[in-house]
Amino acid sequence: MRLPLNAAQIRAVLVGLLASAVVLTFVVPFIAPVGHAWIYEPAPATRDVVTLYWVMFWIGIVVLAIVQGGIIASIILFRERPGHVAKQFHGHTGLEFLWTIIPAIIVIALSIGSFQGLSTITDTREYDMTVEVTGVQWAWQFRYPDQEGLTVSRTLHIPTNTRVRLVLTSTDVIHSFWVPALSGKMDAVPGRTTEIWLLAPEPGEFNGQCAEFCGLAHADMLATVVAEPMADFQAWVVEERERQEAGGELERLGRQVAQQTCVACHSFQEGVPSTLRAAPNLARYASEGPFAAEVRRLRDTDESWLRLWVEDAPSIKPGIPMPRFEGVLTPEQIEAVVFYLMTLE
Ligand code: CUA
Repeated sequence: MRLPLNAAQIRAVLVGLLASAVVLTFVVPFIAPVGHAWIYEPAPATRDVVTLYWVMFWIGIVVLAIVQGGIIASIILFRERPGHVAKQFHGHTGLEFLWTIIPAIIVIALSIGSFQGLSTITDTREYDMTVEVTGVQWAWQFRYPDQEGLTVSRTLHIPTNTRVRLVLTSTDVIHSFWVPALSGKMDAVPGRTTEIWLLAPEPGEFNGQCAEFCGLAHADMLATVVAEPMADFQAWVVEERERQEAGGELERLGRQVAQQTCVACHSFQEGVPSTLRAAPNLARYASEGPFAAEVRRLRDTDESWLRLWVEDAPSIKPGIPMPRFEGVLTPEQIEAVVFYLMTLE
């Protein structure tokens, strides 16, 4: 069989592939336009882990240099040349002893460091505040037992310089809670609780991400931690509680409208098909609705998008079987049903 490439071309392709691999591995991570890194300045809870990471990184670099340097030196020094005969030898007790004992010491030392880091992350014996964290496909819920059980979704507010104990669980599958700048990573497991802690010395907003693949919208299972001075945190608690009480009334009205009107075509129960085949099931409209992209857009940019849709869907999507509700429902009812839809997570 004849290859379509000759030996020199094959060599060029191989060298090209190798060079691309080197660039991808060592260069791209430093120039990629990523919004946030995963390796942060150490925080109180993560200091040991971040230190261990860098120790491992530099040991890895030294090992890489020695191994790759040895390979490259061997290729150059001992390549086949006319007049050279390969030396035949076997075994070198001193060397073999050395390259067994050194890695053994490194591995044992790193193991000790790992146990140390892990016990720091999970040391929740002392704390100033508790938050119960629940993973739900696909959002994080935060409950403050010390604040009359105030519960919020997605964004966790904490006071600065406060040791916060997080008690994690899940209602469905295994998730993993991780705010790289502040906390270690910990699984949220259905039917049991796990604990980690965090402490933010400075005010700020920190990104978190579910770190265990948990289904379709795993990548969107984000969390934000807002650290603010104690006075601001307490003001937020009061404000959030008032907002939720007002929202409770709106939600009741919205549910009523949905159950009297929208339900004619849409299903609001998971797994139960809608009466009208073309009408999407709205049971989890806000988190995984068929309009996920629009919901995101609504959240991010246009507050009124969903209201316009409920008022007059045919003007947005001509020919749609959904009727106009402007004039059929009062503006208050429309506002309530929009609010209600956004609570369906
Ligand atoms: Cu929850 Cu991934």
